[in-house]
Amino acid sequence: MIRALKKETLDRPPFWLMRQAGRYLPEYRETRANAGSFLDLCYNPKLAEEVTLQPLRRYNMDAAILFADILLIPDALGQPLAYKEGEGPVLDAVRSAKELSSLSLDKLHSVLNPVYETVDRLSSSLPESCTLIGFAGAPWTVATYMVEGRGSKDYVNIKKWIYSDPDGFQQLIDLLIVSTTEYLLKQIEAGAEVVQIFDTWAGVLPDEEFAKWVTEPTAKIITAIRARHPDFPIIGFPKGAGGNLSQFVKQTGVTAVSLDTAAPLEWAKTEIQPHVTVQGNLDPILLVTGGQKMVDRIHHILETLGSGSHIFNLGHGIIPQTPPENVGLLADTLHNWKK
Ligand code: CP3
Repeated sequence: MIRALKKETLDRPPFWLMRQAGRYLPEYRETRANAGSFLDLCYNPKLAEEVTLQPLRRYNMDAAILFADILLIPDALGQPLAYKEGEGPVLDAVRSAKELSSLSLDKLHSVLNPVYETVDRLSSSLPESCTLIGFAGAPWTVATYMVEGRGSKDYVNIKKWIYSDPDGFQQLIDLLIVSTTEYLLKQIEAGAEVVQIFDTWAGVLPDEEFAKWVTEPTAKIITAIRARHPDFPIIGFPKGAGGNLSQFVKQTGVTAVSLDTAAPLEWAKTEIQPHVTVQGNLDPILLVTGGQKMVDRIHHILETLGSGSHIFNLGHGIIPQTPPENVGLLADTLHNWKK
């Protein structure tokens, strides 16, 4: 994984899967039931370590991703958050600069301390060959949940805010830039060897707004991390960025980008891979389907991106309906791959 991030071309790409720990695994569902709520699981270092390791006991991934959630930042800033069964996350929405006074950095590290402890535990329990990935949500995506109060279809509240009061919204983004930078630095100091920044809803913005709310905040976080840890490997995932991916790669300083499922592979090979390592883009629904159709697509991705630096992954997270044996077939297909 580290060699791929140093832009080496390898015989077989390293692999890991977004949401590799999660509800598709019966052992996850069991630990999750014992933990109490989803937040109790995220803030319990022993159980969070356990669920991080669960997929690695079944499959030979080259990396483990810390078990946590991107919405722990709003929680730590003091915004009430709950995960409701069948509904996903629900927060008390903040919709104006005035309402930001309810948020504060004061308790950031005391709330997030269990996460740093999880990273610390994992950095001793993982074998040397398995890379530990820390992560955070990007300011834009975290802000969508903070402003909409839940997952959204049209992003009307946050878009109304950015178009009518960009300076006020900038204050929220600035708070997220500071808290996310500090959060990632603590993960790095606790032993994370790579970090990934998830910008799941990057694709809903027109290009000028994409530059301002996706590219710029990510660039600032990366600059601040590298001031302390020069050359530290950072993976960006601006999902749905489309043609904006080129500016994102050039202006943020990411080491690698994760391609979503819709990113055209030939375009990624000629326009993106010469600049940074590419990760992705297997359709997570092919992992639900399995069989030859999945194997053929895996081979196609390996053939197209295999001539440059590449990390195998999905275009988005594993979904709960995924049969665990299909993940086994994916792992075997990758391990048997020869150029
Ligand atoms: O990848 C991993 O294995 C590490 C853990 C991880 C989780 N969430 C655990 C989780 C990571 C990296 C995330 C990132 C995350 N969280 C994103 C960005 C990536 C993406 O998937 O788009 C987003 C947008 C969130 C916010 C979030 N968390 C939502 C919208 C939901 C509800 C939807 C759902 O899948 O249930 C969550 C809950 C969540 N985060 C679960 C897990 C395993 C399921 C909760 C449960 O067990 O009940």
